[in-house]
Amino acid sequence: MQSLLMKIMISSFLLVGWSLPAWALDGDAQRGEAAAAVCSACHQADGSGQNIPDGESWPRLAGMNADYLYKQVKDFQAGTRVNASMQPFAQMLTDQQLRDVAVYYSQLPVTPAAGGETASEEDLAWGEKLATRGDWERYIVPCSSCHGPGNQGAGQHFPGIAGQHAGYLAQQLRAWQNGDRDNDPQHLMAAIAERMNERDIQAVSAWLAQQPAN
Ligand code: HEC
Ligand code: HEC
Repeated sequence: MQSLLMKIMISSFLLVGWSLPAWALDGDAQRGEAAAAVCSACHQADGSGQNIPDGESWPRLAGMNADYLYKQVKDFQAGTRVNASMQPFAQMLTDQQLRDVAVYYSQLPVTPAAGGETASEEDLAWGEKLATRGDWERYIVPCSSCHGPGNQGAGQHFPGIAGQHAGYLAQQLRAWQNGDRDNDPQHLMAAIAERMNERDIQAVSAWLAQQPAN
């Protein structure tokens, strides 16, 4: 009898556990949708962003981890991440609006990425190597060792980078190199970006953009 009771207790605990949302942020998606109206000029109504070859690309926010999105806007507000297009919009949101918007985008279905379509087979193969196996000779560990299996992201600190626009990925790697992005508390990402050259950046960004995100 007692063990049956235990089983029931355990299974109901598991059910409750499973029904918890996949984000820890206290935000409301419906309110977030309203507050995100001003964001859609760049990030688009479906959160798909846009790859802009030779220009400044807008990242896909749809399906990204809510806590991660929240932290990034906080970082724009604090100035540890600098971008002139994003800056005024980051300042527009109250803390609660930002939570709402982050939950809203995290719940939108993932949209496909663009970029890297004209990359050569050789460059794509090099990009795949960096993303999945690394270049240990140059202390570049595989991206997937932090960004999770398939580079799909791991928890709130390690964002998914597969299926993100190539232009945006490359922009971030360069931003770490030139110091516009200095918001990685453990300097994990800055240390990797510093070891990469422009060919590495273009190759890995092209390959990652062509991988599915889930
Ligand atoms: C004028 C265009 C523009 C508008 C409007 C805009 N953004 Fe952005 N956003 C950008 C650009 C460009 C970046 C990439 C900046 C960089 O390179 O660091 C960005 C990056 C971000 C990121 C970081 C994503 C990541 O994966 O790290 C978040 C989150 C974000 N924006 C949220 C918002 C929200 C919320 C709004 C509306 C309140 C908004 N943005 C409005 C252009 C815009
Ligand atoms: C040692 C761990 C580690 C490795 C290895 C690593 N990253 Fe990262 N990466 C991070 C962390 C941590 C962040 C989030 C930083 C922050 O908090 O803003 C990040 C963020 C990023 C972002 C920003 C994504 C976004 O939406 O804002 C890009 C792009 C990126 N990494 C690309 C790469 C690529 C490409 C590789 C492989 C060449 C790689 N990373 C390897 C730790 C790592």
